[in-house]
Amino acid sequence: MKRRRRVYEGKAKILFEGPEPGTLVQFFKDDATAFNKRKQDVIDGKGVLNNRISEHIFLNLNRMGIPTHFIRRLNMREQLVREVEIIPLEVVVRNIAAGSLSKRLGIEEGTVLPRSIIEFHYKKDELDDPLVSEEHVTAFGWANPQEIDDIMALAIRVNDFLSGLFMGVGIQLVDFKIECGRLWEGDLMRIVVADEISPDSCRLWDSTSKDKMDKDRFRQDMGGLLEAYQEVARRLGILVDQERPRGTGPVLVK
Ligand code: TMP
Ligand code: ASP
Repeated sequence: MKRRRRVYEGKAKILFEGPEPGTLVQFFKDDATAFNKRKQDVIDGKGVLNNRISEHIFLNLNRMGIPTHFIRRLNMREQLVREVEIIPLEVVVRNIAAGSLSKRLGIEEGTVLPRSIIEFHYKKDELDDPLVSEEHVTAFGWANPQEIDDIMALAIRVNDFLSGLFMGVGIQLVDFKIECGRLWEGDLMRIVVADEISPDSCRLWDSTSKDKMDKDRFRQDMGGLLEAYQEVARRLGILVDQERPRGTGPVLVK
């Protein structure tokens, strides 16, 4: 097989040059990291599940007219995406207090927020993705005011869509992170949703039991991460409801 040029390698994914100009192949690894790689492990089958869950979400965002980089899934671990210029921000939307918000402001985990809150974190591993304000974003030229407006509008639409999607399957969307990119089409530029949306980048709680069904299981050494991701996939209608032998990876429909 022809070797593909590796464009970028992140903590959980690799980007390869795509088959046509302006495209990339996004490969989902099994690596799990947290607290900026201070905690690391490999969880067999996580990449396969995140590829499928993210595909499901991005397909539906595209269908709703919310622009994304996603073109199509290629195989168990890869998807074809449009090449975009990534804006170096982790755009976090919160509906319920948890994680760094609870820690920073002393708000008890689980407190429903008076309204959805959008935060920008500067995407810089060495600095642990620090929280920044719009002032920092514009002053340092990461995005201009019009782009910030577009990013916030996108983030709210994604939040509305995802909240409804998960609520319909008995899951509360506590918070999530998206990354946005500039997609150039000739002289025209649009801001689109890029990267992935999966239980690695969302906090998902079972609506009734409040069980965690996301990467906090790994961050907090709770175990059962793969089972939780499989349950998310099953509820979204992606996984077949059947016994899955361990080690052979999840059984997928379609
Ligand atoms: P936080 O509570 O740690 O700030 O995270 C908020 C949400 O955003 C949580 O669902 C995890 C996600 N997130 C990432 O996936 N990657 C990141 O780099 C950051 C800062 C947050
Ligand atoms: N940026 C963090 C990391 O090191 C996010 C997390 O804790 O999940 O993966």
